Amino acid sequence: MRFSTLSWALMALAAFVIYCQAAEKRDPGQCPRCPSGIPQTAPPPGDFAFYFLVRQWPNEFCYKNQGCSTIPDPEAGFTLHGLWPNLDNACQKDYPEHCSQSGGFDTFDVQSVDQATLDDMERNWPSYTSANECFWSHEWDCHGSCSGLSQQEYFQGVLNLHSQYNISAALAAKNILPSSTPVSTSDFLDALTSDFGAAPLLYCQQGGGQDFINEIFMCFTKDLRAVDCSEVCRVHPCEPRGSQMCKDTLTYKLGPVRSKAEKPCTDSFRSCRPKSGTCAD
Ligand SMILES: *[C@@H]1O[C@H](CO)[C@@H](O)[C@H](O)[C@H]1NC(C)=O
Repeated sequence: MRFSTLSWALMALAAFVIYCQAAEKRDPGQCPRCPSGIPQTAPPPGDFAFYFLVRQWPNEFCYKNQGCSTIPDPEAGFTLHGLWPNLDNACQKDYPEHCSQSGGFDTFDVQSVDQATLDDMERNWPSYTSANECFWSHEWDCHGSCSGLSQQEYFQGVLNLHSQYNISAALAAKNILPSSTPVSTSDFLDALTSDFGAAPLLYCQQGGGQDFINEIFMCFTKDLRAVDCSEVCRVHPCEPRGSQMCKDTLTYKLGPVRSKAEKPCTDSFRSCRPKSGTCAD
């Protein structure tokens, strides 16, 4: 019997599935990432398994990214990165993107959200590297458009979650304040878990042998109930570029921040992930 190309492709796919399942078994808590790059067309809006709510600690983001064009306001604390519909399929691309069905990149439309929402976004969802609308367009097209929500519902809903699950306040309640002295990662995690009622994922960037908090991912069901990420996360989420899960201790500190010229809002913002096929912002 002659093996057709299709048979070989099916065998390769089966091997890949087995590989992914084995990877999950090895380290379920760490949500291992399967190799990405399987071509897939965007599902219709609303076709996903759960959400990641991603917040960033701008002081670290701006330091490690060799500077920011907008200097973070220390009073604003953690700021929003986005709310990302995520697939539950360990062996495929882990999030849907470009779901607007508009035939192209669907930009943020300032007319589509009310002024109160816009003001709140300016404060709690700023871009540190480009114009805010460029960042919001990227988040909308690459993630929000797949939520099945309108722009008003999406942006306002994300802001509501951000204030309801207030990272700085939860940490401060347990006396964890920005400081250059490292804290135990489990204390940091416990402070958030007890306040939020669900365990998030903590991402750090390394520098001089230390781990610096960079981004915090919370997990939500489609109807926005907070859940432990270990319940829903079968693949490794999109790691902030250059980050890894925090090790035993982490540093949560202010500055220093380097300043840098604003990036123009070019086509690179329209690409939802870098060429390598791994997750982007
Ligand atoms: C988080 O809580 C602090 C007070 O601890 C407050 O200043 C800040 O505005 C709150 N952030 C949001 C987004 O509600």
